[in-house]
Parts: sequence; C-alpha cells; structure tokens
Amino acid sequence: MIFTILTLFPPMFSSPLGESLIKKARDKGLLEFNIVNIRDFAHDIHRTCDDAPFGGGAGMVMKAEPIRDAMEHVDKVRGRPRYVLLTPLGRRFDQELASRFSRIDHLALVCGRYEGVDERILGLVDEEVSIGDYVLSGGEAAALVVIDAVARLVPGVLGNEASPVDESFRDGLLEYPQYTRPRDFLGMEVPEVLLSGNHEEIRRWRRKESIRRTILRRPDLMERFQPTKEDALLIRELMEELE
Ligand code: 6GU
Repeated sequence: MIFTILTLFPPMFSSPLGESLIKKARDKGLLEFNIVNIRDFAHDIHRTCDDAPFGGGAGMVMKAEPIRDAMEHVDKVRGRPRYVLLTPLGRRFDQELASRFSRIDHLALVCGRYEGVDERILGLVDEEVSIGDYVLSGGEAAALVVIDAVARLVPGVLGNEASPVDESFRDGLLEYPQYTRPRDFLGMEVPEVLLSGNHEEIRRWRRKESIRRTILRRPDLMERFQPTKEDALLIRELMEELE
C-alpha cells in the first residue's frame, strides 16, 4: 500500500514513520510512503502557501493552487490516488473507515492547517476526515493517526496475523483484560480461569469481560452491538451480577 502525504511540514513524519511496526513493514516492502512538500509547488519567489482570507478576519488560509499542483504532480508520477483531506469538518474517523482505507492501494492524505484551506480544494478531494472533536493546529498529527490505524490492517504488517481479529472495536466491543507474569502483583492476582488451561472457559470469560467493560465504560457502543445467543446469555449473567 502506498501512502502519499501532502504537507507543508515533511519533517513531522520522519520519526513517526521510521520506527517500530511501520519501519518493519516498510523494510518488508508492504508499505511505501511518498511525502510531498506542498511548498515545492508554490508559485512565487517567496514560496507562499497561505494568504489572508477574502472578507477579512484573523488567521491565514492555505492557497488552492499549490495544493492543486502538488496533486497533479502526484497524479502524473504515481497515478491518481484516493485523496483524503484532513480537516475538523470531515467525517469522524473510526475503525470501520480504517478498514475501508486499508483496502485502497494508494491513499493520499492532504494536511490542511487549522484555520483552513481555500474552500475550492474541497471539490478536488474524494473525502474529508476528522479524527475527533478537538482542535489540532494542522492535519499532520491527524494524518499520523490515520496512517497508524490503517497500516496495521494491511495484510502482513502485523507479525501475528490473528491479532487484529479479536481486538477492540472489530465487533464493536472493548478488549478484554490482559495479564502477564508475575501472577501476584502488589497483592493483585491473575484471575484463576486464565491459569486453568481450559481454552473454552477462557474464551467465554474473555467474551463476558469484553461485554462487561463495554457496558460500564462505553454504553454508547452497546447500541450498535449485535449479540449472539451466547452473548445474550452472558449479558443476562452480567445483569444479575451488577444488580
Ligand atoms: Cl483532521 N485537522 C485539524 N486541524 N484538527 C482536527 C482534525 C483534523 N481532527 C480533529 N481535529
């Protein structure tokens, strides 16, 4: 999968994309990053990429032409990618969107600055995405969030192919509690069932604890949850315990 990033701040990507999981996936040739400096497509001697808003007001607006020219350059050299503009106006990014993006061969992330990009850029991109209801000073941090969530869903990127399947949000539930050595930590013991070696009981316990956590911490997620017959039974048990 190719990620193209259009940004005024290429150095913001070097360390986050050069470590850990993503570094390994790049070395294996599973992921490729193509960082494009929008400033290289500025039209004037000062390489201006922002300007005062028509109509007045505070802040600066990112100019349309350098972004358009950067996009045309990408189209010409690498073929047209799917263009996603990172903006607080966009659709909220979630696991479902991460999953859809992970099936795209070439995704281009256009990083706008907080005050905004010229409205006419919106018509040139395929979609607009926000990572949540808070203000970032630019789209770069949001692009890194999207890349992290998407990259780990690309086949082969995680060493252990099984792990994305039963983790948080895949079926709309939070992750169950995890423990490792020592068995006793500050007097807090590992639940007995996890030491039992009974895989069926362990699976059932984990499912129940996932549901428990989701009810207690993220009741909003329960609204979309589609319980199986077993889940319905586990929910009934939990309701009795929680009474
Ligand atoms: Cl994508 N951009 C900016 N500037 N702020 C944000 C955001 C994006 N998502 C949440 N806040």
